[in-house]
Amino acid sequence: MAKPRTKFVCSVCGYETGKWLGKCPSCGEFASFTEEIREEKTRFGGVVSSAEASEMRPRILSEISASDSERTDTGIGELDRVLSGGLVRGSFTLVGGDPGIGKSTLLIQMCRHIGEKNKKILYVSGEESAAQVKLRAERLGIRSDSLYIMSETSLSIIEDCIKELKPELVIIDSIQTMYSDSITSAPGSVSQVRESGNRLLGLSKKNGITVITVGHVTKDGQLAGPRVLEHMVDTVLYFEGDKNFSGRILRCVKNRFGSTNEIGIFDMTSRGLAEIKNPSEHLLKGRPVGVSGTAVTCSVEGSRPLLLEVQALASRNGYAVPRRITAGTDFNRVNMLIAVLEKRAKMPMSSFDVYVNLTGGIRISEPSLDASIVAAIASSYKNVPIASSMVIIGEVGLAGELRAVTMCEKRISECSKLGFKNIVIPTANINDIPQNTEVDIKAVDNINKLLALALRPH
Ligand code: TYD
Ligand code: MG
Repeated sequence: MAKPRTKFVCSVCGYETGKWLGKCPSCGEFASFTEEIREEKTRFGGVVSSAEASEMRPRILSEISASDSERTDTGIGELDRVLSGGLVRGSFTLVGGDPGIGKSTLLIQMCRHIGEKNKKILYVSGEESAAQVKLRAERLGIRSDSLYIMSETSLSIIEDCIKELKPELVIIDSIQTMYSDSITSAPGSVSQVRESGNRLLGLSKKNGITVITVGHVTKDGQLAGPRVLEHMVDTVLYFEGDKNFSGRILRCVKNRFGSTNEIGIFDMTSRGLAEIKNPSEHLLKGRPVGVSGTAVTCSVEGSRPLLLEVQALASRNGYAVPRRITAGTDFNRVNMLIAVLEKRAKMPMSSFDVYVNLTGGIRISEPSLDASIVAAIASSYKNVPIASSMVIIGEVGLAGELRAVTMCEKRISECSKLGFKNIVIPTANINDIPQNTEVDIKAVDNINKLLALALRPH
């Protein structure tokens, strides 16, 4: 009997070789190769037949109807914002995130509004039974007659079902549980995920069905195996957050139909995901007053200004090597800012451990946070609190200079909307100060002037 031909596939990036390798030459990952049986595939992975291909013939631009880019609003404002206005008909979207973060909850909640418009939805769960999905839907108050639930993992059965039911929206939860008969490797392997992705892509593009698929992420932040999927889908959304916090952030990392900068902010409650309409207020809730080591800053995520609190703790240590720990922001950037403080503000930090945290479980690494991080560390180091009515905005350069930030006017208006009375901005942004403002805005050009202002007695 002929020996089955095998291949080795990198479980991170999908790179294939004939023999096992310790390190992937494509993505550099170690020990990521798994053995799979080699499949002889037809062209296009067997997805497109010649008859179907004729439907996909080239068309002149003017021949293509406007409905090809029709959008459906999902009824969840924050989700629409991330999708740049709603789900595009015939699009293929991947929703990634840690297991248990709330992907299934978000998608089933989305079905409520779309179902109310009498649009047929097929929700395929490979992880839960139909009864489990129903229980969850009922608990979230979803009773739609156009929502069809199916617990299935075989792609051929799902495809048959879609052909029969003709839904407008198909949700696949999750891609790692789906399998295709034509591939022998286990569900969740790179080959299976790629094949499933290809077949779903074919379905979506040929029939104009909107497809959303869930993909679980590995601990190091990568989609387990399906990085291959990121290339074929139109939109990639990541649902992130800390399980210890109820706050959740939906981030768009790829979008063929709009901007990728927007974020959606949610709160996981006992009755599902609730949109947070005023995130700045939410993020500043419970802020300590009159305590050293805390500063407020304003970041811009997409088009939305976001006020947040930066906390720092500089504590003397007895060891030779000081500890640097960051939560919610870039570790290397904080190290750089500590070096700038040491050199430009003459603060010897080598015998101090420094911890920096963005409160609320949010993760942001925008340069405009620099000045507030520097101020918070210095405030903790000198044990002098920063006025609770102050917001500090600015990027810090290696020479200790404060550099301009984008959309400064928008940030200032958000600060005054939330009742902040003093704002410190970089001198380079002086032209962005609005006329007739009641807020006291000070422009400074280096961190020494910033610290003199922020740490003066008040
Ligand atoms: P789920 O959507 O199943 O996560 P995922 O699909 O990303 O794996 O969410 C599961 C978590 O959400 C679970 O730990 C409980 C929590 N949760 C709530 O707090 N409230 C709710 O109303 C629901 C449905 C879930
Ligand atoms: Mg789930």
